[in-house]
Order: sequence, then structure tokens, then C-alpha cells
Amino acid sequence: MPESITITDNRTGQAIEVPIVEGGVNAAEWSKLLPGLWFYDPGFSATAECESAITYIDGEAGVLEYRGYPIEQLAEQASYLEVAYLLLKGELPTPAQLDAFVAEVTGHTFIHENVKRFLEGFHYDAHPMGMLVSEVGALSTFYPDAKDIEDPATRWNHTVRLIAKMPTLAAATHRFCSGRPFVYPDASLSFAENFLSMMWKTSGQPFEADPALVRAVELLFILHADHEQNCSTTTMRVVGSAHADPYSGVAAACAALYGPRHGGANEAVLRMLASIGTLDEVPAFVQSVKEGHGRLQGFGHRVYKNYDPRAKIIRKAAYDVFDVTGKNPLLDIALKLEEVALADDYFISRRLYPNVDFYSGLIYQALGFPVEMFPVLFAIPRTSGWLAHWNEMLDHKTKIARPRQLYTGSPRRDFVPLSGRS
Ligand code: CMC
Repeated sequence: MPESITITDNRTGQAIEVPIVEGGVNAAEWSKLLPGLWFYDPGFSATAECESAITYIDGEAGVLEYRGYPIEQLAEQASYLEVAYLLLKGELPTPAQLDAFVAEVTGHTFIHENVKRFLEGFHYDAHPMGMLVSEVGALSTFYPDAKDIEDPATRWNHTVRLIAKMPTLAAATHRFCSGRPFVYPDASLSFAENFLSMMWKTSGQPFEADPALVRAVELLFILHADHEQNCSTTTMRVVGSAHADPYSGVAAACAALYGPRHGGANEAVLRMLASIGTLDEVPAFVQSVKEGHGRLQGFGHRVYKNYDPRAKIIRKAAYDVFDVTGKNPLLDIALKLEEVALADDYFISRRLYPNVDFYSGLIYQALGFPVEMFPVLFAIPRTSGWLAHWNEMLDHKTKIARPRQLYTGSPRRDFVPLSGRS
């Protein structure tokens, strides 16, 4: 029997049966039953914006799956490009499909030489994430055919291009900021290793990254690849719903990711840990958060009301990295902060747990990345998630995103000429 709820409209006394679809109410059905009645839902915390078959989260249980595969298994056994393929195509690739995909991505890692000139226009201390937003947006002008979003082959071509070029743009941005020459992609290296080479290679010397560090980058890329309708993915869908090209969409998604409540959080975590300084200061810091002086960065999540499964994996992986790089001294402060917060009623009652950003910054820092690069590192793998959602949205022939509002401004009034205003 189909599920439904019955509500009484107290204005008319009429009983109305509202069908429940997949655990929620379909707004189109609701509007037919109760025309003109609005949903007021700022921040969309009770609104499903779309149907999606890409990522499943059970926030109560702390479960995350890509296309049905548990994140723990993917983190342990898959490569990032395997995961990107899975997100985009819905199935794990066969060995032949993976080889073809890797070859395709590798073939698109180069960026137009003019992009390097574009970089030169930035001020020397520009934030790398601000630069990335502009660079990705600029790519839209290099590939005007990307506007043909109705053609599946064109869409795939630019999906691959974007995934391939993000590490190159990211590394070029870093090299520019640190005054070092651009390093071209190396087709003989894996996706993660090539990124590290473009970041750190010294000209004239062979580049060899420690396999444990390459694996750590790969792991972080897998964990960050998708997270269903987060702020930047929603941005990608909203911009995409206007049929903008994917470069413009990814630039907008990057802009959302730049915010400290989203992809900027791991940068904020490190700054917070550094400002706490010593273990003794942890209780006083937690107290100040409880008194409303800022937030405990890297804690809390709109969906997870349990330990973020990605944070668990990263916390464990941190030790493998520290075995190679030496321990990040901020780790002890992070562990103490977690211990104090998780025992405190303020955090318990609000169900605030460490999220993905709480430990990721510590690894990035140990790997040698400056904090300003953290959101950029998040954007590289999330590009595959954004594009999986963008393609899915276009396949679903979604309408343009156009929410309504509750107007709370002035009622109609007549214009007063400047001379009549005091
Ligand atoms: N520290 C202290 N208090 C918090 C925190 C925090 N990190 N997060 C939420 N709260 C409190 C908040 O003050 C509110 O308390 P009250 O009910 O007394 O007003 C309650 O918990 C609910 O908070 P909310 O702001 O309504 O929750 P939200 O779902 O809108 O926000 C969040 C989610 C992630 C933006 C928020 O938890 C936050 O700002 N966390 C810190 C930033 C962060 O770590 N962001 C990374 C998110 S995960 C990666 C990603 O998505 O990019």
C-alpha cells in the first residue's frame, strides 16, 4: 500500500492525504493538493533538490557509499581514477576500460600556454583558490564547443579534460605563487604522482615520490571525490541547470568550495590548531567556542550526526604519512581537542563530531603543501563528483533551478525625488 500522511487544513477543515515518495513529500504533488502553500527552507536542510544515484550517505550511522561501494573499501583498494570512472559511469571499470580512461585523462593534462600568461596577471600574493576559480572560468573561453551540452560526446570530452587539467592548474598556481617555473605533466606517472611531480620537481633532476606519500594523496583524492548535495555540488547543479558550460559550472563550484564553511575548513583547522599552540590551552579554547567565540573548525556536519567515516580513514592514514615525513606537531593538539570536545555536553547534545577536514590538513601540511593550497587540493578530486552530478542532472532533463522567496520588504510605495528626501 502506498505510504501517505493525512493533514487537516484548519482554514477549511478539509482532510488532505499527502503521498510519501521515497521517505519524503513530492513538492509537485503537494502543490496540487494545497495550491499556493510554500515551503520555507533556507539552507535546504529539509529539501531534496534532485534524484541522484551517485552517492549515498546515512548521516546517523556514519555511512558513505559511492554507487553502492563503501568508502572504506574504495579507500583501501581503488585508485582515484577508478573512483572517478565509477562516479561518472555508475560501474567500476574493467581493466581495459580503466586503461582507456587513464590514457584519455593523461592525454588531456596539458594546459594551453596562454593559461600560463593568464597566471602572470595575478598579484604575487594572490590566494591560490581565488586564482583557481578564475583559471577554470577562463578555460571556458578556450573551449567554446563545451557549450554544446546536449551532445554526450562533447560532454564526455570536457568532463575528461576538466578532471585531467585540474592538477595541472593547481600545481601551476602553486609554482607561480612560489616564484618557481612551471613543470609540464609527465605522462609516464600516475595521476597522483604526476601531480606531486608538477608541484615539487626541480628542473634537471629526476622526480621520485615516496610510494606511501603517493598513496596518501590518492586516498585523500578518493575520500574527497564526492559527497552528494554539498554546497559546491549544489552550485554546480544550479549553474548547470541554466545550461552554462562545464568550465563555468566548475568555476562556480570552486567558488563555493572556497568558503570557510565548506572547502576552506581544513585551512581553518590548521590555523585554529596553530593558534591554540599548546595542549594546556585546549580546554580554554573549547570553552571559548562554547561561549560563542567562533566555531570548532573541522567539527559538525549538516548530514553526519555521527563520526564522519572519511575522518576515521584520514586519522588512520595520517600515521602512515608521519612515518615518512615525521609527526606533525599539531597532531597532538588535534587529538586532545577531539578528546575534550567529544566528552563535552555542548558537542554531544548537538551531535558534533570531527568531519573530513579535521585531520586532512595535518596530512597536507606534512606532505609539504602550504595551507592556502588546501581548498585547491579539495577541488582537484571533487571535480569528478561535480561533473558526475552535472552529467546526471543533464540526463534527467532537470528544469532551471529557480527557488521562490518569502518577501519581507516594504509594501508598495511611491518614488520620492532626491530633492524631496531629507
Ligand atoms: N563548533 C561549534 N558549534 C557548532 C559547530 C562547530 N563546528 N557546528 C555547529 N555548531 C553548533 C551551532 O552553533 C548550532 O548551535 P545552536 O543550536 O546552539 O545554535 C548547532 O551546532 C547547529 O549548527 P548549524 O550551524 O545549524 O549546523 P549546520 O548544519 O548549518 O552547519 C557546518 C554545518 C559544517 C557548516 C557547521 O557544523 C560548521 O560551521 N562547522 C565548522 C566548519 C567545518 O568544519 N566545515 C566543514 C564541513 S565538512 C566538509 C565540507 O562539506 O566541505
